[in-house]
Amino acid sequence: MRLGILTGGGDCPGLNAVIRAVVRKAQKDFDDEIIGFRDGWAGVLESRFMPLDITAMRGALPRGGTILGTSRSHPAYYEGGFERARMNLDQMGIDCLIAIGGDGTLAVSQRLIELGGRVIGVPKTIDNDIALTDFTFGFNTAVQIATDLIDRLHTTAESHNRVMVVEVMGRNVGHVATHAGIAGGATVILVPEYPFDIEVVCEQLRRRHSGGRYASIVVVAEGARPREGTMDTGPVQLDEWGNPKLGGMGELVGRAISDRTGFESRVTVLGHVQRGGTPSAYDRVLCTRFGVEAAVAAHDHDFGKMVALKGEHIVRVPLSEVVGREKPVAAELFEGVAEVFFP
Ligand code: F6P
Repeated sequence: MRLGILTGGGDCPGLNAVIRAVVRKAQKDFDDEIIGFRDGWAGVLESRFMPLDITAMRGALPRGGTILGTSRSHPAYYEGGFERARMNLDQMGIDCLIAIGGDGTLAVSQRLIELGGRVIGVPKTIDNDIALTDFTFGFNTAVQIATDLIDRLHTTAESHNRVMVVEVMGRNVGHVATHAGIAGGATVILVPEYPFDIEVVCEQLRRRHSGGRYASIVVVAEGARPREGTMDTGPVQLDEWGNPKLGGMGELVGRAISDRTGFESRVTVLGHVQRGGTPSAYDRVLCTRFGVEAAVAAHDHDFGKMVALKGEHIVRVPLSEVVGREKPVAAELFEGVAEVFFP
């Protein structure tokens, strides 16, 4: 078989580990030829690619980022983009494309399937917002990075009697915030799934600090929103693609806390450091399992599927049932566990 691989959307720890696993399984057990497309869908549309083999993948397992490059480029930005992508894949003799990406990449994959393409998806994102898989790869690493940084903020918060507000990534869901908040012993965690009332947050902080000295950590997911009419957040800013721009909520929350409580606050935005560097051991194993399964699925001609983690098992789920759905934080985790530790 001639396999194509691409990495699309934001980068994420473990991309190279997935590519390595696909290449190893496909070349060693099936004697496949493997092509890596450069910079996500742009590589397919502009016929930019590189050959991949076991030798080329040496040293890739622990390496962050993606050796293929990635982008948020999309066939919709090109004239007749979907048909062109389909045609280019056919002309290059690609028997199956393995598309490693988040919701955007998987949605394009599904569209190509509808046009008769042969694609298998691998769920990537630190946000963990993809439906029908227990975890996406990259999430575990991001949570560990955020937790390590929250641990560090605890000691400086204690030394200065401060409220430390920490903004973490996650787009429209609060998985990173909830997990890192629980693991880092946050005082309060604000996530998009549970719009917050800033006065309630301030009351929780006042309660915690009623003994005199104070030091609190407030974890704010970048997509967290106040309850309607409780806090002015200004007009929604749009990015170049017309999507609401995220980021900045930590700053607003930090300012509101100091204004309303008088507690000295500082804001830290963790940003892209959550996506950088080497994947955790857990993610390396998950990526390796995903990559091997994707190569096997290609040989089973099981196109239109996404490899996924269900409990202890790697399974295949229909891409059509994954796209357009978001996976929110479970109430069992947020209300049942995280909230137990709020003051
Ligand atoms: O989807 C992954 C993610 O890291 C989000 O958590 C974040 O909102 C976004 O990507 C940032 O994107 P960019 O790399 O384009 O700034």
